[in-house]
Amino acid sequence: QSEIYRAGISGTKPGIPVDADRLEESARRALSAEAFAYIAGGAGAERTLRANAAAFGRWQVWPRPLRDVAARDLSIDFLGRRRPTPLLLAPLGVMEMAHGDADLAVARAAASLGVPYTLSNQASFPMEEVRDAAPDGSRLFQLYWSADDELNASLLRRAEASGCEAVVVTLDTHLLGWRTRDLDLAYLPFTRGMGIAQYTSDPVFQQLVRERVRRGPDAAAPPAPPVRLTPQTVAAGVKIARKGAALTGGGLRENLRSPLPRAAVETFLDVFSTPALTWDDLAKAREWTTLPILLKGIVHPDDAARAVDVGADGVWVSNHGGRQIDQSVPTLEALPAVVERIGGRVPVIFDSGVRQGSDAFIALALGATAVAIGRPYAYGLGIAGEDGVREAVRNILAELDITLGLSGHTSIAEVGRGALREV
Ligand code: FNR
Repeated sequence: QSEIYRAGISGTKPGIPVDADRLEESARRALSAEAFAYIAGGAGAERTLRANAAAFGRWQVWPRPLRDVAARDLSIDFLGRRRPTPLLLAPLGVMEMAHGDADLAVARAAASLGVPYTLSNQASFPMEEVRDAAPDGSRLFQLYWSADDELNASLLRRAEASGCEAVVVTLDTHLLGWRTRDLDLAYLPFTRGMGIAQYTSDPVFQQLVRERVRRGPDAAAPPAPPVRLTPQTVAAGVKIARKGAALTGGGLRENLRSPLPRAAVETFLDVFSTPALTWDDLAKAREWTTLPILLKGIVHPDDAARAVDVGADGVWVSNHGGRQIDQSVPTLEALPAVVERIGGRVPVIFDSGVRQGSDAFIALALGATAVAIGRPYAYGLGIAGEDGVREAVRNILAELDITLGLSGHTSIAEVGRGALREV
């Protein structure tokens, strides 16, 4: 944090607002109405979105002076390695809506801070390109369990081959939430061919698209010229469709006239997820990968216990940033019971509503092993690209470090419930 204050002394203004509300407001001005709605929005009347953040207000940090906190250490043990900070970047899909460099910029910023980056299944660049953008960075791969098992297996094979350290299976999106802002704008980025790069770069997905095109156009589709179907043409076709969508802001009908990208988007919509998924299915993931498997979207303590029983290597407490069920349990309120049931057997990652360093501190004090950030880094990305992501994350880290020291601690391991007072 001294770097940040020193920059201030020398008159260098921050590239993005430091305050969380002003950061969001600045992103609103920087982004298109659709992009901002997609990123900032939550489900329903957005009660969960607000409650996630408000839940931190139920906890206060005790200041404890005179404890020699001159040397402080934010590092933690996580997935078999010492990490310089207890933060992770949560998986955020369709970041091309925030910035053209999307996941590449996020990966570079995360790597420069030593913060693991959870790459979304809905990313805008194939995972191999994200690796190449920041080869030394630590990456986890987030999977939306597809209706097609071969595709799941293929995505996980690629995650392993491209150096991801773990697989995060997101369990709360087997149906897409009732996202009122997006509904009002009649906007869903996936139907524009955005956020499907992980799929269109996948050989199994490409095969599914080829099969679909061979079956012939559906009755509603306009007549289309013949296409030669190679993996390259499938990927290139979708890229063209994506560009078209971005340039004209138009919809599926306008921009996806050619049968190939259209078939890709339709295939994506078919296979994206499956509401029929059950606990029994999870065993298959073990056959598909040797990587540690974390389950994201666990909120109920019984599910946390079951996750450990089925052999999960970590539990990620999340309600998707309030984007799935409105009026659902704020994750911070669920955290203590989950931590208790897990009893230290596997790491507990926490997200939803973390906006500043003291929020992260509270989640760590309540027993989270690591804390993941979502929207704040998307806002940084939208305002200032890679630098904006770095600043957004660094600001949270700086305030976390200050809170650690002012509450009389020198390491994350020392921080426990005793650091807090419940209001
Ligand atoms: C998400 N989230 C998400 N989760 C996931 O598992 N895969 C994904 O592709 C996405 N995509 C996504 C896009 C956007 C724009 C947002 C805001 C969120 C959920 C995300 O990983 C995380 O759980 C929340 O963002 C955490 O809440 P905060 O920090 O945004 O309040």
